[in-house]
Amino acid sequence: MTTPRIALTALALLAPLPAAADANRDEQIKIQAGEAFFASDCRRCHATDADRASYGPLLDGVVGRMAGKYPDYPYSDALANAGFVWSEGALRAWMEDNTGLLPGTKMRHVGITDPVVQDFILAYLKSLATAK
Ligand code: HEC
Repeated sequence: MTTPRIALTALALLAPLPAAADANRDEQIKIQAGEAFFASDCRRCHATDADRASYGPLLDGVVGRMAGKYPDYPYSDALANAGFVWSEGALRAWMEDNTGLLPGTKMRHVGITDPVVQDFILAYLKSLATAK
């Protein structure tokens, strides 16, 4: 009569897994969607690895990084002296209206106003920080 008990124990152990797996799968889907939006809206100016030439600064590890401080990148004075950290909120504001947030930046205006698209791009940017 041990078999049913073992089966029940196994079920109890497995029960939390699908929820965790779902959350992980949802995050993966967001990252993939973000990668696609990044490819269409950002990649032509931003490389994400240091081996590639890039018109804009590299964005790996940008979430939580001090603005205007990627080593050796020739920032505009506006961004070099911005004095804030790239929090999620700052990055949303930047995607929505970078030239409004920081007049004098040399990044051309991108107007990503849809919060869901911002979410996807943020998920992708965060995944770059943990990839290495
Ligand atoms: C037309 C080229 C271009 C496009 C498109 C572009 N960027 Fe930029 N980006 C730049 C340049 C140039 C800078 C440096 C601006 C400065 O020094 O004022 C910059 C700066 C940034 C910074 C500040 C980085 C730091 O080290 O402080 C972030 C964050 C950023 N871009 C995110 C994005 C995202 C996200 C997208 C897509 C939604 C995007 N950019 C699209 C050219 C571009």
